[in-house]
Formats: sequence, structure tokens, C-alpha cells
Amino acid sequence: MTDRQPLVAANWKMNGARASVAALLGGLRQGLLENGAEVLVCPAFIHIPLAAELLAGSSIGLGAQTLAEYGNGAYTGEISAAMLNDYGCRYVIIGHSERRHILGETDATVARKFRQAQEHGLQVILCLGERLEEREAGITEQVLSEQLDAVINVAGTDCFHGAVIAYEPVWAIGTGRTATPEQAQAAHSFIRLQVARHDDCVAAALRIVYGGSVKADNAAALFAMADVDGGLIGGASLNIDDFLAICRVAR
Ligand code: 13P
Repeated sequence: MTDRQPLVAANWKMNGARASVAALLGGLRQGLLENGAEVLVCPAFIHIPLAAELLAGSSIGLGAQTLAEYGNGAYTGEISAAMLNDYGCRYVIIGHSERRHILGETDATVARKFRQAQEHGLQVILCLGERLEEREAGITEQVLSEQLDAVINVAGTDCFHGAVIAYEPVWAIGTGRTATPEQAQAAHSFIRLQVARHDDCVAAALRIVYGGSVKADNAAALFAMADVDGGLIGGASLNIDDFLAICRVAR
């Protein structure tokens, strides 16, 4: 038993248009009953102002999918932590595997973004996860601890205070191939233990959510595991009925 509040976060990735964002948020506001789980949406940058407007006065949180590793200045095309704050974003996803593996973010970039977000009071959702070949080679734990250490070395040992970690095995993202509840639990408890090596209290309070093909029909088994504190949902978060069903499970 823990008193960690479950978190269900929608990562809409590069999807949506003004009309579909409005429809999803309208459906969410209408369908979401206060149920003890924290619910959060992370739209594309360009939809953040609209989402902020449509979520005003609701308990649904708003987050971004990444941010610049620098403060405001001459960085053409980037979006800073200060800008996200200005639009009411409380959270930011950092180190998503699509950014690491498709867009070339290194552990060092991820660590600098983490520090930038924390310096501006944003709550970080740090994504970690191994690729299929790494799991098959038996080095999942090594990959996870390297990804964690890269952040700790730059942001300090107490950096996970108030943060969220998302365990997202790369082979489960968008593939329909979910980690089993036991595989998720093993990775989550390993991550918690690694954090506990630096600070027991931070580790005990740390929310570790699972991401990778979470659907309405597998969420209950995943969320029932002792160290799984909710989910980071991709594809299923774009369908209001599926996402609401997952939110209900998290209560
Ligand atoms: P899917 O739920 O589409 O597998 O995506 C998971 C994810 O990447 C969330 O960040």
C-alpha cells in the first residue's frame, strides 16, 4: 500500500487539429469524474494555448511534450520553460524515446532539459526505456540505470523530488505489444531501488508510470502492480472513450 496518487497522462504526440483538440477536451471535461487519479494532457506546442483556455477551471492538468534545453534567447524554433509556464503548463515530458531515437536527443541533452525544467518549476515526466535488442541482450537494467545516472549527474541526487518517471519500453510503444504486468513491475521496482540508493524518501514518494500500448483492456492489470503508479498513454489517449476508460481504471 502506498499513498502515491495515480497519474494518467495523455501524450498526444504530433496529432490533432484545433477541432479535434476541442472535441477531446470537451469529452474529457464532461466524462471525467473526480476519482482520485490525477489526469493530464500533453498536446503539441501549437495546441497548448487552446488547451489552456479549454481547461480553465478544471482539475485536468496541462503539460508539454518537450522543451528547449536553454533559457529564452536566440534559439530559432525552440520553446522555453518560461513560455510553458506562461501558458499554465505544470508538466513537461522529457526524454521520450521518439525524441531520443528519431530526433537524436542524447542522455546529455535529456539531462540539460531536465535541469532547465526544474529550474523553472515545471514537473518533469522523465521517460526511460530499453530497446528490444537491449532487452533481448539482457541489459535492460543497465540501460535504465545509465539513463537515470545521466540525469542525476547533471541535476543532482535529489532531482526526482516532485518528478515523475515513465518507464516506456521502446518495443512496446505504438506496437500493440504491451509489457506484461510482471515485466513492468520488475522494471519499476528496479527504477525505484536505483533512486532509493540516493534518497529513500524521494524513492518512496516517486510516481513511476508505465507507457507502451496501454489500452482500456490491459490498464487494470498493469495499474494493479505495486510499483506502477499510472500510465503515459499514446494512441489510446486520442480516443475519448478509451482514454476515459483508462482514467477510470486508475482510480
Ligand atoms: P502508445 O500508447 O501509442 O504505445 O504510446 C506510448 C507512449 O509513447 C506514450 O508516451
